[in-house]
Amino acid sequence: MASRLRERLAVVEEALAGHVVSRAGFVTETASHLMSAGGKRFRPLLVLLAAETGDRADSDEVVTAACVVELTHLASLYHDDVMDEAELRRGADAAHSRWGNHVAILTGDWLFSRSSELTARLGPEAVRIQAETFTRLVEGQILETVTPGPGEDPLAHYLEVVAGKTGSLIATSARYGARFGGATPEVEEALTAYGEIVGSAFQLSDDILDIASDSGESGKTPGTDLREGVPTLPVLMARAANDPADARLIELLDGDLTDDDRHAEVLDLLRKHPALDEARAYVVTRAQEAKAQLAVVPPGPVRDALEAFADIVAVRST
Ligand code: FPP
Ligand code: MG
Ligand code: MG
Repeated sequence: MASRLRERLAVVEEALAGHVVSRAGFVTETASHLMSAGGKRFRPLLVLLAAETGDRADSDEVVTAACVVELTHLASLYHDDVMDEAELRRGADAAHSRWGNHVAILTGDWLFSRSSELTARLGPEAVRIQAETFTRLVEGQILETVTPGPGEDPLAHYLEVVAGKTGSLIATSARYGARFGGATPEVEEALTAYGEIVGSAFQLSDDILDIASDSGESGKTPGTDLREGVPTLPVLMARAANDPADARLIELLDGDLTDDDRHAEVLDLLRKHPALDEARAYVVTRAQEAKAQLAVVPPGPVRDALEAFADIVAVRST
């Protein structure tokens, strides 16, 4: 299975390289920047893997769908790094650090348009799914900028953000794979539910890495979410613990974390805090839940690979 997926991913990779070429040389440079910098190709990989549950895993439509989700994801990263003021992505300069906000935002728009052109090739139902996915993705991103309403549980609010900004596109990756790979509607539904949970787990792992990893591992600047005041799972869990021993931590979290010394201190306190392991355990539980959706996939190498994929998400280090 692994070597087959590698082969199919190489086909996707070649197609992607073609899709970021513009008639304007400068746009080719800005649009290929993040793709060339690396990336796990998590979404295309899930498309390819999900396609293996059907009888048309080799179809060109599967490759097109894999490109659609990666280009959509890439587009969102150009915008995200502007909003998060993140200087590093995939170990390289974020696009806005190199070319400024205008070019970064417009390159994101351009990539999103390329992705839409490709979606049209997949037919009207794919266009509908794509539009619905993008609506959710942007809603999640907008909700991240507001605090929970009065009486709303901060963790529930946050999980809604995560499901929108990340679960949506990863669910669609699994759906496209099943659909264009020729799986049954029942399997397509199950894989969509699986993708939704795996997607949220993936984002929650990302939150944990923002605190636990160094930039050598993640290719990003640690503590970016904290600096931007974006709540994440370990922080919400530490707050919910309501432990008097956390007085200094809470004071720091409530204050200005753009100050380098305060930022370093809070990062250090969180790295030692039991909430970090609690968050990790939560993500492992979500991975189990994702695997439980796979009951309709016949036992065998494809189901094993989907299970392994969910497990890797829960314990990922990059
Ligand atoms: C990463 O989250 C961000 C997302 C998953 C989605 C962002 C979506 C948008 C910015 C909307 C894009 C709109 C268009 C038109 C393309 P993160 O910041 O928590 O993760 P990170 O650590 O990888 O930065
Ligand atoms: Mg970000
Ligand atoms: Mg963000």
